[in-house]
Amino acid sequence: MKPMHRYALCGLSLRGIYQYALPLLGLNRAGGPNFDRHAELVGIVDPDNERVAEFYRQIGREIPCYAPQALRRMVRDTQAQTLIVAGPDGTHARQIVTGLDAGCEVITEKPMVIDCQQVRQVQAAEIRNGRKVRVAHNYRYAPLHRRIKRLIQSGRLGKIVSVEFTYNLDTWHGSSYFYRWNSDRNRSGGLSISKGCHHFDLINWWLGDMPAEVFAFGGLNYFGKDGALRPRDAQGQPLSPTEEKRRCPVFRRHYRGKFDPAGNTIGTGWDTRFNLPYDRQYPPEQRRYIYDDAIAIEDSYSAVVRYLSGTTMSYACNFCTPWEGYILGLNGTKARLEVVHRTDPDPTGKTNPAEDGGTITLYPLFGGKQVIKVNAAAGGHGGADFAIQHDLFGRQSAESRKLQLIADSEAGAQAVAVGEAVWRSVKTGRPINLARLLGRKA
Ligand SMILES: NC(=O)c1ccc[n+]([C@@H]2O[C@H](COP(=O)([O-])OP(=O)(O)OC[C@H]3O[C@@H](n4cnc5c(N)ncnc54)[C@H](O)[C@@H]3O)[C@@H](O)[C@H]2O)c1
Repeated sequence: MKPMHRYALCGLSLRGIYQYALPLLGLNRAGGPNFDRHAELVGIVDPDNERVAEFYRQIGREIPCYAPQALRRMVRDTQAQTLIVAGPDGTHARQIVTGLDAGCEVITEKPMVIDCQQVRQVQAAEIRNGRKVRVAHNYRYAPLHRRIKRLIQSGRLGKIVSVEFTYNLDTWHGSSYFYRWNSDRNRSGGLSISKGCHHFDLINWWLGDMPAEVFAFGGLNYFGKDGALRPRDAQGQPLSPTEEKRRCPVFRRHYRGKFDPAGNTIGTGWDTRFNLPYDRQYPPEQRRYIYDDAIAIEDSYSAVVRYLSGTTMSYACNFCTPWEGYILGLNGTKARLEVVHRTDPDPTGKTNPAEDGGTITLYPLFGGKQVIKVNAAAGGHGGADFAIQHDLFGRQSAESRKLQLIADSEAGAQAVAVGEAVWRSVKTGRPINLARLLGRKA
């Protein structure tokens, strides 16, 4: 019998649990694949002992758990072969490098790292150890996105000359980043990296091209201490934290009746199965809300990107809109492809009705349009999450090889580089050359 492959998980995060721990433990549900017949989870790294203990209590078993600074020892003790990195984005670089140096292959959540300096550290560690990093860019795996890639590969669009991509997050999802660790640039790189990396990787992969230069505008408009949504008193002064939440349109719409406005607990409701505590990451006595003084990232961006081949992209992302999803236009020398895709990330399913799999409209330059309906698939992120689990833990499918679905560290690097260039361009008012940002020859 084939020996079991030994995985260890860094970060018992929401993502770490549902996307990695459960399928490895044979506890995936809702039609998701399980891999416990040929894989095992041998170690966990997380600083929150209470959270980990509650997880063990609920799954009815214990897995050796280590503090982040003991990662190397964990690999030695458990003989882990592959390290899965799924803690907050800002912890990835150090753990990827430590894992590679300790002799592991590495799978990391997106974004691979939070800046281009960290990209260099990761790629140097890959070369030094002769080992590879795979980046879980799951967004590529959604059936709609695979279909678009196949259409591009078929040549029906011709050469893609320009891309129009607008991604909007709804008031529930977009605002949630502003009371979580993502609102701290030191821990997430800012939202042009933490969230934007999904979009930039998708476009880079569709085009099969390298982004070369970025210019962007952006700002913090809705959230933060001067956010437009922040309720104030008659003199324009901030209210008490409790009163602020009571009158806050986000709280009233999404959290009233579920969370106490006088407390600090507020949650996305994603962890429906375990409802684990987060007290180490979010101490209950510490205020955190979407108008906190410390928030210094952006909540809206407009950017243009030039690719090496000459293709250009106009990109916009806004974290506070009435519905979630994207509007895409790909202008080719033979046809234009359009998608308007609505999604509903709210687990209560109440925010906006989501569309099924998606609809692609293909307009040849000369000739009638073709409408292509894509079937929905089970699993999170439009079916992407179960599909990528097969690629990461099972055998890579023929379709995956043909579409080059597995993202390597270079794909991870390009997505991070665009995201970093976006916020740096916003700050400096200048275009940013990506090769230079990555420390390569421009
Ligand atoms: N691909 C996707 O669609 C997708 C979706 C959500 C999140 N993510 C990514 O998954 C990762 C986790 O995000 P999340 O929102 O699920 O996290 P989370 O906030 O739910 O959990 C973070 C966990 O990491 C732990 N932690 C903190 N510091 C750590 C360290 N130094 N080492 C190890 N663990 C540490 C915390 O105690 C906590 O258990 C992030 O990189 C995020 O960008 C990806």
